[in-house]
Amino acid sequence: MKLVVAGSTGLLGSEIIRQTLHIPEITEVVALSRKPLRLDEGLDSSKIKNFIISDYGEYPDEVKAEFAGADACIWCACHTSPHVEFYTYHLDRGYRTVAITPFRSGEFDSAEVKRVCQDCTKIGFDAMNNAGPARPFRFIYLSADGTPRDPEKKAFLWAEYQVMRCNTELMVLKFPTENEGVEICIAQPGVITNWTSFTRGVVASVFSATNLIGVPFPNIYLVDAAAAVLDQAVHGIEKETLRNADLVRIGAKALKSRNGVRELWWF
Ligand SMILES: NC(=O)c1ccc[n+]([C@@H]2O[C@H](COP(=O)([O-])OP(=O)(O)OC[C@H]3O[C@@H](n4cnc5c(N)ncnc54)[C@H](OP(=O)(O)O)[C@@H]3O)[C@@H](O)[C@H]2O)c1
Repeated sequence: MKLVVAGSTGLLGSEIIRQTLHIPEITEVVALSRKPLRLDEGLDSSKIKNFIISDYGEYPDEVKAEFAGADACIWCACHTSPHVEFYTYHLDRGYRTVAITPFRSGEFDSAEVKRVCQDCTKIGFDAMNNAGPARPFRFIYLSADGTPRDPEKKAFLWAEYQVMRCNTELMVLKFPTENEGVEICIAQPGVITNWTSFTRGVVASVFSATNLIGVPFPNIYLVDAAAAVLDQAVHGIEKETLRNADLVRIGAKALKSRNGVRELWWF
């Protein structure tokens, strides 16, 4: 099968790309990114074709041609969320600033965030759908836990961003009714924990500890999140919306059946 991955140098995108090398059913990968992918030189990555695009709102003809015959797309491209911006900002400057400037809404260009997260998702989907993909064509859109389904329901924090993501989900949900042969899945992971840096490792440890007392905060290991969405792309979509708990279950099962044992999450 041919798989398109959008946002392939991101946290999740790069783990998806890494795992495709271990999935024999995936024979071709069209990896879209704005900067070159870094692939492990020790592995045979000949099935991966990396296309550098300047923006997810524009696709040159040679890239559109690659979309022909695609069986699935995993869409991980999204503007950095205000949550991440917020933590990065305050971690960079120290906690004292939290009391003074708890929000950076003035610095957050919501029109650009909407363009990248919502408009580009539609433009990317249309480019693939018009290029003659396989049928069914599975489109897996990465959203996030807690995204409301009702745009009228104002979230307490980052309300504008949450409404934009809600509207993006509602837009993606319409793709199958507007386009025959299209199947969609909205994946809503909680915090994607990983050990790609020391700080992220500390955060992952905290979440692991909270998981022992019943997962009060939805979270998922990076390898499980990637395995779950790849499983849905390869074997079919279980349901339209996959919540964090669904992704944890599907990801763990997929890794177990692929490796015989569950991959150790801290590697
Ligand atoms: N990380 C988490 O804890 C978490 C939790 C829940 C949901 N999610 C969702 O999962 C998806 C992937 O998350 P992630 O953690 O892998 O995100 P990430 O590391 O920030 O990667 C997102 C990708 O989006 C593209 N992107 C970012 N800013 C852009 C911009 N201004 N213009 C155009 N493209 C831009 C980049 O693609 P290039 O490869 O082209 O640079 C980037 O690699 C997102 O939709 C995110 O909201 C993440």
